[in-house]
Amino acid sequence: MSTKLENIGACVFDAYGTLFDVNSAAAQCKDDLGDDWEALSDIWRMKQLNYTWLRSLMEEYRDFWQITGDALDFAMDTLGINDNALRGKLMNLYSTLDAYPEVPAMLKTLRANNVKTAILSNGSPNMLGSAVEHASLGKLFDAVISVDSLQIYKPHPSVYQLAVDELNLPAEQICFMSSNAWDVAGAANFGFQVNWVNRFGQARERLPGEPVNEIKALDELPALLGH
Ligand code: LAC
Repeated sequence: MSTKLENIGACVFDAYGTLFDVNSAAAQCKDDLGDDWEALSDIWRMKQLNYTWLRSLMEEYRDFWQITGDALDFAMDTLGINDNALRGKLMNLYSTLDAYPEVPAMLKTLRANNVKTAILSNGSPNMLGSAVEHASLGKLFDAVISVDSLQIYKPHPSVYQLAVDELNLPAEQICFMSSNAWDVAGAANFGFQVNWVNRFGQARERLPGEPVNEIKALDELPALLGH
C-alpha cells in the first residue's frame, strides 16, 4: 500500500545510487577487472561511505572526490590490484556515471506539474556538475546542492537544512528520495517526507526516521504525488 503525499513543494534527490548508477564505473571495466568487478564496486562504495562518516566524526573533512579516490585505493589494495592507469580510468568513469534509465522522464513529469526539483548530495560541486551534464539533466533541476559548503557529510541534520534554506520551503513540504537506507533515516528524522528507492532490496535500517513509502525505482514517484 502506498501513501499519497500532499502539499509537496519540491522533490529533492540523493545523487549516488539514487539518480546515478554507482556500479556503472566498475561495470565498464569488466574487461580489466574480470570477476573482481563487482567486489571492487562494493568495497569502493562501502569504504567511500565509511570515510564520509569517519571523517565527519574526526572533523577532518576532505571533499567527496578525494574520499572517492581514497576508497578506490583501499578497494584496489584489498583485491591486490596495482594498476595506475586502471585507477585513472575508474575515477574518470566515476565523474560521468550513467543516470538510471527512468530518471529523465520522471524529472520531466514532475516539472511539467510545477514541482521543483533538486539534488542534495555528498558529491563535490565539480563531481555533481559533471554527472548532471553527462546525463543531460542540467535543465531538469532548480538547484544542485552539495555538502561542500558545510564541510560535513550526511546524515548530519545541517546537510538536510541546506535544502530547506535553498528551496525556501519547510521540511514537511519537501519530498526526499534516496536509495541509501541510512540517508532515508537521516532525512526522515530531520523532517522530510521520504520515499525510499530500494533499488537493491536492502533490509531496513534500525535507526530513527521512517520513510513514508518504499518504491523500487523512481518511475513510481510522480503517481505518489498525484501526477
Ligand atoms: C550522496 C550519496 C550519499 O549522493 O549517495 O549524497
